[in-house]
Amino acid sequence: MEINEGPTPEHELIPHRGFKLIRGTHDPDDVDQIYHLDIQDSDVFVVTYPKSGTIWMQQILLLLEAQGDVSAISGLSKHSNADIIPWIEVKGHRQAFIVAPSPRLRVTHLQHHFLPAALNHKKGKVIYVARNPKDVLVSYFHFHKLANMLETPKDFDDFFEKFMRGDVFGSSWFEHVKTWYTHREDMNMLFITYEEMIQDLQSAIHRISVFLGKDLSDDQLTSVVTHSTFHNMKKIPQASYEQVPGELLNHHQGRFMRKGTIGDWKNHFTVAQNERFDEVFHREMKDFPLSFIWDIRDIQ
Ligand code: A3P
Repeated sequence: MEINEGPTPEHELIPHRGFKLIRGTHDPDDVDQIYHLDIQDSDVFVVTYPKSGTIWMQQILLLLEAQGDVSAISGLSKHSNADIIPWIEVKGHRQAFIVAPSPRLRVTHLQHHFLPAALNHKKGKVIYVARNPKDVLVSYFHFHKLANMLETPKDFDDFFEKFMRGDVFGSSWFEHVKTWYTHREDMNMLFITYEEMIQDLQSAIHRISVFLGKDLSDDQLTSVVTHSTFHNMKKIPQASYEQVPGELLNHHQGRFMRKGTIGDWKNHFTVAQNERFDEVFHREMKDFPLSFIWDIRDIQ
């Protein structure tokens, strides 16, 4: 594995208003303008901490829009579903959002205080996807090897420390999930977990469809489910990010669609790391009624 000596300028994280952005990918001034965007009721923002199921939700939203017709979405994007449901915070994307036709579907990893103020007045819709943070950490570790805009980790132990310090793009997982969760009643928000989607994708997609006010037949919903399973998404280059240009993702280092399961952290964490993680988790989350599934065997 290639080891980086340290962050090059394009890997550098820029601390900005309590959050870390990526130099080159984000422009802090532009990110600040997102707060002032006019929002329409048909706008939908999928909010995630990185590695929590963002591209999964892109595929589900596109299929729901197309009423389950996978052929209708197959030719829509050049490289990936992110061409159609992009990250609002990436340079230039805010301007594109302003002039985009309805429905404007976007994803974001931003903290709550950056997002359009109008969302807090129940304009538009927000889907927050949370994932158990041990699996997030592991998925993010592997993604750092793949993503050219992020610094390649020295090793897992080093990345573990960075994640615990919030010294990564997205900053602290705990802050992210807690802040968004705290604001869930202020906005039209569906709060859903990656694990719920793994456990029962059909029910999860039904909930998402109802939340978005879609009226799909049972067959159409079944088709959305079929084409958004891990197994099937892997076979669709636009859905699995296989065609994202090499300057962004180094496809020789691994696949974006890596394991798609619950509990891979058990193959990475030492006993000591796990104990420390549990201690931090209980301290940070003690006032939040959020529970996560940590092992795939707990749902089988
Ligand atoms: P793993 O690295 O654990 O496999 P994001 O899109 O937010 O970056 O999240 C990526 C993670 O979601 C990866 O996790 C990826 O495999 C997983 N993922 C993507 N599509 C999925 C699907 N249909 N089912 C289960 N997991 C999926």
